[in-house]
Amino acid sequence: MIKLSTGANSVLIKGLDKPLKSEITVPADKSISHRAIMLGSIANGNSTIGRLSVSRDNLATVAAFRKLGVRIEASKEYKIKVHGNGLYGLKEPLSVINTYNSGTLTRLISGILAGNDFFSVLSGDKYLNSRPMARIINPLSLMGAKIFGRKNNYPPLSIIGSKLNAIYYDVPIPSAQVKSCLIFAGLYADGNTVIYEKNKTRDHTEQFLSLQDYPFTEENTADGGNIINIKGGGELKPFNIEIPGDFSSAAFFIALGLLLKDSEITIKDVLLNDRRVGLINVLKRMHANIEIIDYRKDFEKVGTIKASYSKLSATNITEEDVPDMIDEFPIFAVIASFAEGITTVHGAKELRVKETDRIKAVAANLNKFGIKSKEYDDGFEIEGNPDYLGQLYKFNNSERKSVFLNKSNNSTGLNNPTEKKDASGFYIKSYGDHRIAMSMIILALLLKNKETEVKDIRCINTSFPNFFNILNSIID
Ligand code: S3P
Repeated sequence: MIKLSTGANSVLIKGLDKPLKSEITVPADKSISHRAIMLGSIANGNSTIGRLSVSRDNLATVAAFRKLGVRIEASKEYKIKVHGNGLYGLKEPLSVINTYNSGTLTRLISGILAGNDFFSVLSGDKYLNSRPMARIINPLSLMGAKIFGRKNNYPPLSIIGSKLNAIYYDVPIPSAQVKSCLIFAGLYADGNTVIYEKNKTRDHTEQFLSLQDYPFTEENTADGGNIINIKGGGELKPFNIEIPGDFSSAAFFIALGLLLKDSEITIKDVLLNDRRVGLINVLKRMHANIEIIDYRKDFEKVGTIKASYSKLSATNITEEDVPDMIDEFPIFAVIASFAEGITTVHGAKELRVKETDRIKAVAANLNKFGIKSKEYDDGFEIEGNPDYLGQLYKFNNSERKSVFLNKSNNSTGLNNPTEKKDASGFYIKSYGDHRIAMSMIILALLLKNKETEVKDIRCINTSFPNFFNILNSIID
């Protein structure tokens, strides 16, 4: 049992000493939940959403659209009803729209706001406000939008909505957020907006457009890319959907099932969109025992994932692998730590501008555990070893304490307050990033007879508020 006091911002994790055989369900997919609220809000009529994610990021999207005048309510059957106002029915917000930690909310809503004739400001937490926005400011400006950011690249963003013109845009980096932002802006543009993506990314926005009968086309290109053509000024029909479980949340439990000796974890009704399950393909390359059962196509592809204990071997990740597993690198790094051989990741520079610099955070944390890891400019390298499970931690706690204390005896004679605080023992930081926090907790659970403190864990609420409840339900 992992004990957490209310509002706690750190947790002490004790390594597990017996196998897990469990079946769980993870919360609804975060990416689809954002889009369901946004596209329901600008649809003509009422939409119903079953199993919406109630993560902090998704609640920020609900609050944002309520601020824009949309009625969004929970029905008796625990469904969410969105009373769509149509493309042009949003109202000017009276105060700043808080985007919290959410890059998806910030970048997608900007496409909608750019086409609406009013003034709005978007601002999030310190992590979000340090993330680059030129990737949307530039193409939206080409469409005629008036959108300004701090240093022309960072939130807060201010937007004065205006008439947009259609453009052809070749998205320079694989990004579903940029693509979706431009699809949204295309709904408001005069003429046909054409978006080309060289590397295909998650297509949830396009799936909604089909579901909502919106006039658009999609075509594969000879080079393996994709061209999307959206007609401005159409009408979005309302919808009634059940959102499947989030694959990115399931990934933490897939890791536990694969790595904890003799375990088997089944995760029910998970989203299996082709552009989201890259981790499964890579894990199969590493000889993982993963089975998909009850596979079906609802409005998106869905299935149940069974992950069983496996002896894994290292692999090399290249640029082509990256978009389909973009959010899974922190937990992939944990998995690679126990795979025989050296795993390398290249072509993943985008990881430097996620909720934190994930390349730096992964390498620093693994090294702190005693796992050899090296940063590359565009990825990382991990020396994996199945025997790590029993051997990590180079120092015991008292040795560590003396290392920290010696460091603080500096020439000024003053103790460095940060180092003094650190003297309490071994700990790992999340860098304010939900996925780093959860990945480190999974790693700590795999270290039999060891205790690890993971700090700064409140960020887990960003995507997975009941992470500890699910963990406790299977480890008790
Ligand atoms: C998302 C797209 C990805 C992903 C993010 C969610 C989306 O971001 O990392 O967590 O819902 O469109 P990028 O488009 O920046 O790769």
